[in-house]
Amino acid sequence: MGESNWPQAEPYRIKVVEPIRRLSRSEREQALDRAGLNPFLLKSDEVFIDLLTDSGTGAMSDNQWAGMMVGDESYAGSRNYYNLEKAVRDIFGYPFFLPTHQGRGAENVLFPLLIEKNKYVPGNMHFDTTKAHIEMAGGRGVNLVRQEAYDLNSEYPFKGDMDIEALVNFIEEKGKEQISFILMTITCNSGGGQPVSLGNMQKVREIANKYALPLFLDAARFSENAYFVKKREQGQAEKSIGEIIREFFCLADGCTISAKKDGLVNIGGLLAFAEGQEELFQQARERLVPLEGFVTYGGLAGRDMEAMARGLYEVQEEAYLAQRVGQVERLGKKLIAAGVPIQKPVGGHAVFVDGKTWLSHIPQEQFPSQALSIELYLESGVRAVEVGTILAGRHPETGENIMPDLDLLRLTVPRRTYTDNHMDFVVEAFRRLDARREKIKGVRFAYEPKILRHFTARFARA
Ligand code: F0G
Repeated sequence: MGESNWPQAEPYRIKVVEPIRRLSRSEREQALDRAGLNPFLLKSDEVFIDLLTDSGTGAMSDNQWAGMMVGDESYAGSRNYYNLEKAVRDIFGYPFFLPTHQGRGAENVLFPLLIEKNKYVPGNMHFDTTKAHIEMAGGRGVNLVRQEAYDLNSEYPFKGDMDIEALVNFIEEKGKEQISFILMTITCNSGGGQPVSLGNMQKVREIANKYALPLFLDAARFSENAYFVKKREQGQAEKSIGEIIREFFCLADGCTISAKKDGLVNIGGLLAFAEGQEELFQQARERLVPLEGFVTYGGLAGRDMEAMARGLYEVQEEAYLAQRVGQVERLGKKLIAAGVPIQKPVGGHAVFVDGKTWLSHIPQEQFPSQALSIELYLESGVRAVEVGTILAGRHPETGENIMPDLDLLRLTVPRRTYTDNHMDFVVEAFRRLDARREKIKGVRFAYEPKILRHFTARFARA
């Protein structure tokens, strides 16, 4: 067998545990009724295994917790700020950096500096809050990801890649003066945690140069992306994760990062700029103070910045990444073996179940993946989140429900938090649901909020 072929054991041991409890079936029914059949409105104590998000839900290491104890809570000039600045310089190669309270804080500081009214921000696929911030700044977000991204069964290894031809056509058609900047999201969360290849990023850089457009990274899952590049992209296997990360960031003018993902912290974010972007950095610095806080804390405690500085190094360890990405892939493979249709290949942080196909007897108007999230919770106490028709909302002009091609249920795996036994429990929940799958009913709105309806909507069975 040699050195390979070992089972994927977690490269850590557990020093602190947090008890979780599964409510009884009747307690789960009552909890879900109180929540208006919307798992988002459950109390976390009512949830057994929580796969709502991988954002801020991970476990910190002993080294990060030790860092929390050396927090310097000075209002200005905290030593932890300087440690974080060093980490950003070492890891991304960026000399200019600002801490923010989370990813959307960085977006809120940066976007109004780059966006002019009604101008476009093309990207592979924008995350929801990112799109909202583009629109709040007066711009228009456009998704130009490769077509394979919309085909759940395509095994294309870099489904987060930008469609280069579409990008060029878009810029030519609108005129480069109508474009504010280009944004690449790594990994592409809304496209299923699918990676972007280094080759694609290089091509996007060439186009940005040709049309003199700024290019930014939305890099919440930068290390998971680098791991996929190392494993899947020709010619990249010999490079270290750190080298691949550096190459990506060298190709951009700056980045926004939600450190709640690959920063391995529960709260935090950052905004950073490459060499040559000093002027933009100065402008961002000025905006940071009223929006997030003074330039050396940006909405964070000193201890939070220290934990982030340490997390940004830890997340690049290959043994960690192999287990992290491997755990998500293993969950996906077991679901496939149980006959559950999912997006392929499995993404970095989540498995996306094709609710519309699995529950094909439920019309899309009755929100199949929402119905699935409800039944999954009732069956097992597992919480997941719909990424489909509810999330898509209504057409701004016609007021009709938008019917996206994909109606999915996201099983998002927090980092270093659950074991493979928890994942097996999730698979067993789907097996049990399969036995009564055809009897699962759709849902309708009992209360529908006007904006961001998925968070607070209430439902009734159709
Ligand atoms: N960009 C991406 C790609 C994200 O996935 C997120 C958050 C953000 C920006 C915003 O960062 O939450 O720190 O303000 N994604 C979370 C999720 C919420 O569940 O996918 P934030």
